[in-house]
Amino acid sequence: MSSQPTPPSTGTNLDPWYNTYADRAAGLSVSEVRALFAVASRPEVVSLAGGMPYVSALPQDLVVDAMNRVMVEQGPIALQYGSGQGVPKLREHILEVMALEGISGSVDDVIVTTGSQQALDLVTKLFINPGDVILAEAPSYVGAIGVFRSYQADVEHVLMDDDGLIPDALRDAIARVRRDGKTIKFLYTIPNFHNPAGVTLSAPRREEILHICRSEGILVLEDNPYGLLYFDGPPPAPLRSTEDEGVIYLGSFSKTLAPGFRIGWAIAPHAIREKLVLAAESAILCPSAFSQLVISEYLETADWKKQINTFRGVYEERKNTMIAALSEHLPDLSWTNPNGGFYVWVTLPDYLDSKQMLPRAVKELVAYTPGTAFYADGGGRNKIRLSFCYPTPEQIRLGIRRLTTVINGEIDLLETFNATGPLQTMRPERSFTAPPPNLG
Ligand SMILES: Cc1ncc(COP(=O)(O)O)c(C=O)c1O
Repeated sequence: MSSQPTPPSTGTNLDPWYNTYADRAAGLSVSEVRALFAVASRPEVVSLAGGMPYVSALPQDLVVDAMNRVMVEQGPIALQYGSGQGVPKLREHILEVMALEGISGSVDDVIVTTGSQQALDLVTKLFINPGDVILAEAPSYVGAIGVFRSYQADVEHVLMDDDGLIPDALRDAIARVRRDGKTIKFLYTIPNFHNPAGVTLSAPRREEILHICRSEGILVLEDNPYGLLYFDGPPPAPLRSTEDEGVIYLGSFSKTLAPGFRIGWAIAPHAIREKLVLAAESAILCPSAFSQLVISEYLETADWKKQINTFRGVYEERKNTMIAALSEHLPDLSWTNPNGGFYVWVTLPDYLDSKQMLPRAVKELVAYTPGTAFYADGGGRNKIRLSFCYPTPEQIRLGIRRLTTVINGEIDLLETFNATGPLQTMRPERSFTAPPPNLG
């Protein structure tokens, strides 16, 4: 039997299967900045781009001990397939972790996933038909936007300020979408130490947003990988702690322990959870038993609360270093000052384009993530996300100095062109147009 592909009837694409893909594959676009990030991962480049946790701060010996014990005591179970919902013992530990944030539940409510990224995928798969609308903050987590796009959802962004998602903007967005005859399936939100905006949803707004979603019949997808990584005191209680039926909550061990285990979880209303388990089984059969047992053993034997505290200290020092360097070198810009998490969101003068500027930055040996990555609608041109989680304080200072050279160079370049005429319309005046006040 021949397995020769049929050549495409039209188009110039060299992929012989070009006409064969499902429509949804069109949503799987390569990040425009991926090639640059390959260059940016060279050691001489200070990367303020990625969201990699500083796993070197983990007590590696305790992780190794946990792995050894799992293999010696439970080897055949660790190496075997397991339950699609996850190892019950780990689900108990997850309840302990969530109790720290005020969320209660039973072991049955929890489903273990391959990182919270998989939970995002499963929830989207369960709810989205092509053209359905997902409400999400403006900006929003790039990995979630990618998932939403791959299921052909329309993302409707909702404005934020220094207190997080704006309830009136949410009301407006709901009315607008419904006026257009579209169906809203859920609100996706990152209430704590937002990725990329760094802001935290205030307590009164949490109540108000829950109230809006309840009365409008809109499900909430609460993504909370950073909630325990606070600096000056914990954030307000999660949405899920006051609303069981209307909220799917996503958690992860990626930032509080290590992403290499690829273990996250969802806690969902009963009926949704049953469907999530079926969807997870069809996608991966079961999450890694080995990873689950090692995490479970680690949580049982190591002082994990102390270790999370260590992470907090490391990240707080780095955040303070970044904010101090920005204040010293780029005082005319504005940025958020997060009380936890990994990210600072910087606003450039509105005539600068952070994506166009990135090659120049990489040439200057510093990398950041351009703001457009975090919008489904092309927004964020004059924004950049800076991550302080991975580089050392020394590298952060160096990175911000290099970034300053790049930004000033870009401004000078535009000024030169402006003076000679061609870009006159792009940049009417030299000074920054009144920068908005720093958020957070
Ligand atoms: C807001 C948010 N959600 C989900 C994820 C995915 O995390 P993981 O799949 O490692 O649990 C990330 C990772 O950076 C994130 O920032």
